[in-house]
Amino acid sequence: MAEKNKNEMVVTPWEVRGKVDYERLIRDFGTQPLTEELLQRIRKHTGELHLQLRRGLFFSHRDLDVVLDLYEKGTKFVLYTGRGPSGPVHIGHLIPWIFTKHLQDKFKTRLYFQMTDDEKFLVKDELKLDEAKNFGYENALDLIALGLKPENTFIIFDVNDIDLLYDIALEVAKRITYSTARATFGFQESTNIGWIFWPAIQAVPCFIHAKLTGENVPALIPAAIDQDPYWRVTRDVAQKLGYYKPAQIHCRFLPGLGVGGKMSASELETSIFVIDPPDVVKRKIWNAFTGGKATVEEQRKLGGDPEVCTVFQYFTFLFEKDDKKLAERRMKCKKGEILCGECKTELTEGVNKFLIEHRKKREKAKNIIEKFHIKR
Ligand code: TYM
Repeated sequence: MAEKNKNEMVVTPWEVRGKVDYERLIRDFGTQPLTEELLQRIRKHTGELHLQLRRGLFFSHRDLDVVLDLYEKGTKFVLYTGRGPSGPVHIGHLIPWIFTKHLQDKFKTRLYFQMTDDEKFLVKDELKLDEAKNFGYENALDLIALGLKPENTFIIFDVNDIDLLYDIALEVAKRITYSTARATFGFQESTNIGWIFWPAIQAVPCFIHAKLTGENVPALIPAAIDQDPYWRVTRDVAQKLGYYKPAQIHCRFLPGLGVGGKMSASELETSIFVIDPPDVVKRKIWNAFTGGKATVEEQRKLGGDPEVCTVFQYFTFLFEKDDKKLAERRMKCKKGEILCGECKTELTEGVNKFLIEHRKKREKAKNIIEKFHIKR
């Protein structure tokens, strides 16, 4: 929110820019690194580790060890994640949702998914409330298309479901001072008062399971690390309200296709949206920033740099499931045996195949979306 130096790393729930230093975020936010020991504990329950864990895409946590301790002693947990529906979903948003589905399948647990149409209405000057609600419906189809279980997935549409949230939101809001909220979220004199209250609403699904079922269990939140400020304030009030502190598992950002920065809905040309037709996907990928050299000769001689290449990142995050093939691609790139054009062509094919399938499933989701509403 505040004016910052252009190259400085900024990671807030509303803005991510600059080169993201994940080690520093762990220190600055006071989270814990996801250690090999914890990964082995997860493996005991899930079998082979999910690609996003094997490849270090989830890298940090709060209280995951506590959740596993409780689970191993017989206390289940619920999952909680969400979306601020300000436009169509991009591939970056799908990353934590795909992982959430994996956890739901393996641990057979309930997911609360919050669609924050109210947040986006308050935060985005130009967005009308009806538009945010409508994006909420559209984005829910994208979530459902990933195959989440209707009997175990509850989508909370904030504006329509506010009656379920309001009492807990009040309990939370009463215990967070303005000075804490300002220090955590960077609120300014010009921030509207709806926005200032709003973080209390994002806290509610951490605790809603107890209200709906009478069962007090912890919530585990898979999300990218930009959402962490919400959990800092929520964790501070949880025990005062008689609940477990919500636990988190944080992922890195799928980068945009340009130089630096995450895939972000406001950067149209460097983000791939689920609604992008094949020719648009192709154009965006062909313009992507890669680790390639200026000429073919140079690349053949010196090799490319997959570590800085956005195209390689897309294979790593989602589009190359086979670890061996990913390692081969890295090696061939470094040795100059494969050129950027080849990687771009293969990625374009992979992304378009994925999106065509996704859109078919999203159409079918229209027939079952009612099953995901919370019944009163
Ligand atoms: P939103 O809509 O900004 O983001 C939705 C989810 O996507 C993650 N994300 C990304 N993950 C990987 N790579 C990226 N480039 C990328 N960009 C965004 C976000 O971390 C988030 O998990 N206020 C929230 C909505 C919300 C929520 C929650 C999110 C409500 N309750 C609980 C997570 C957990 C928002 O506007 O998310």
